[in-house]
Amino acid sequence: MCGIIGITSNKSVSSAIINSLRKLEYRGYDSSGLATLSEGIIYEVKSEGRVDNLEKNLATKNMLGSVGIGHVRWATHGIPNTVNAHPHSSENVSIVHNGIIENSTILKKYLISKGHIFKSQTDTEVIVHLITEYLKENNLKDSIVKMLKQLHGSFALGIIFKDKPDLIVGARRGSPLAVGYGPNENYLGSDSYALKSMTNKISYLDDGEFCVLKKDQVDFFDENGKKVNKKVLELSSNEENYEKGEFKHFMAKEIEEQPTTLKNCIKEYIDNINNDINIFNIPWDLKEISSITLIGCGTAYHSCLMAKYWFEELTKLDVTIDIASEFRYRKNRFKKESLYIFISQSGETADTYAALDLCNKNKMKTCSVVNVIESSIARDSKFVLPIHCGPEIGVASTKAFLGQMMVLYIFTLKLAFLKKDLKKEIYIQKIKDLKNLPQLVEKTLLIESQIQTISSTFTDAKGSMFLGRGFSYPIALEGALKLKELAYVHAEGYPAGEMKHGPLALIEDGIPVVVLAPRDNYYQKTISNMQEVIARGAKVLLITNKSKDEVVSENIWQTIEVENANDDLLPFLLTIPLQKLAYYSALKKGYDIDKPRNLAKSVTVE
Ligand code: F6R
Repeated sequence: MCGIIGITSNKSVSSAIINSLRKLEYRGYDSSGLATLSEGIIYEVKSEGRVDNLEKNLATKNMLGSVGIGHVRWATHGIPNTVNAHPHSSENVSIVHNGIIENSTILKKYLISKGHIFKSQTDTEVIVHLITEYLKENNLKDSIVKMLKQLHGSFALGIIFKDKPDLIVGARRGSPLAVGYGPNENYLGSDSYALKSMTNKISYLDDGEFCVLKKDQVDFFDENGKKVNKKVLELSSNEENYEKGEFKHFMAKEIEEQPTTLKNCIKEYIDNINNDINIFNIPWDLKEISSITLIGCGTAYHSCLMAKYWFEELTKLDVTIDIASEFRYRKNRFKKESLYIFISQSGETADTYAALDLCNKNKMKTCSVVNVIESSIARDSKFVLPIHCGPEIGVASTKAFLGQMMVLYIFTLKLAFLKKDLKKEIYIQKIKDLKNLPQLVEKTLLIESQIQTISSTFTDAKGSMFLGRGFSYPIALEGALKLKELAYVHAEGYPAGEMKHGPLALIEDGIPVVVLAPRDNYYQKTISNMQEVIARGAKVLLITNKSKDEVVSENIWQTIEVENANDDLLPFLLTIPLQKLAYYSALKKGYDIDKPRNLAKSVTVE
């Protein structure tokens, strides 16, 4: 949420900043800006909308400077316009900020009383004036320490100073920030993705730390200004993962990549020869765990719900799931024998991180299922299960969802086996079935033209419903979320059996309803629920799996058949047509598929 870049070099930096901002655009895209410093003058350019606009604007200016900061914004305080776009500057400093300053109103009052004049509606501007105020009587380091102590909330900052020719200060609390090292230049960035085209050597700031970057030196400090040492990490450089290639959108590429990403994940966790699961170095005796709490947001929360069904089906463990933003403020009764699992693609989601932090502070066993292994959630959980998906750039999560489900399913099997809830022969059979899944996903991905035709009905509808029972219910929720966020069509995911308790009132002639009814234990029940909506005029898209037996039901508008698999694995296959339905619905409407309105990829604010 919001992206920051900073470069200090011995050559002009503005075009390199623009290139990095393009990479960061997935974090926020309502406005952007950059500031450079040359011979004691801070130059600034900002634009509403995409980085393309900023680049056009930049072409009309002569932005000198070998030091600079840039920003892409996801608005929190103040509408997305040029005035509220970052950087924000005073006569002495220029600042880019990611996060929220919770005590900005109080600080603003104080600063106005000191004669500071505010130009924007943002919370960020208080940081500008606060540091300007402290610099009147303190040196740079003391001013930073003093300023950071005054700020409440979460933030990552990049700051340049009019009278410090080659210097950038970075600071972090809550929101992630990385430093990159290059030849005669150094970089600051919200994530390694923004820095990757310039360097593969990076360090991450820990919470509360700040850093001072010069083109040939980087120093790190704790919140009291005491120097700290940092490890330099080497990133693997697989640049093609970050390109769309032949695809029109990252989302299309990421959907098609799923057989490969699942294969990669299987390779990491499955012992092919012995049909066993390799999860090593777990810091606890898994046999002693008697309950599990799964926590996530959005799509990751749907993975939690899916895992609950698997854990309950295959183990005797007591399983609770929670939405991170709810968990963190509820009166929690922590259970010593419970394992708390945090699911997050980015590993930076503020609510999920706060829930993890709460569990760590209460000395709970914490484990995370993440995609970005350098992320805060991965670094601060006691055990990490990576999903090995490669970078997911499209804002709507697709391959990460399947990856999360895959890892959670693998973990369920392992735990079920260790706790003797699953017999060895069944365990082995399930692993064998799992190894076959990428192939089934590949075949299911071939469903294409039918979905393209169907999608028009959804784009024209004023609303839609997605129904499922049992294992298919979390997938119904996920299908509805995808359609909402990409095609901006109201879509409700619901347990099919609950319809008669209220939502059936929404069903009227022609409303499109997706019914997920694979031939599992719930099949007959779901088909009956489907009849109830058909009887009230719904246009039903039935998604089931291939079978010799025809679906005994008239008046189904459309049927899509996914490949056949054991019941546990059908949720993976049912997800595919729903991802494509959302994709094609958004495409038909001409929406920006990789960057849906009002959203951003990494949600680092509450
Ligand atoms: C929906 C989507 C979001 C994320 C959610 C959590 O397509 O992508 O709902 O799943 O913001 O993000 P992570 O997994 O990064 O914690």
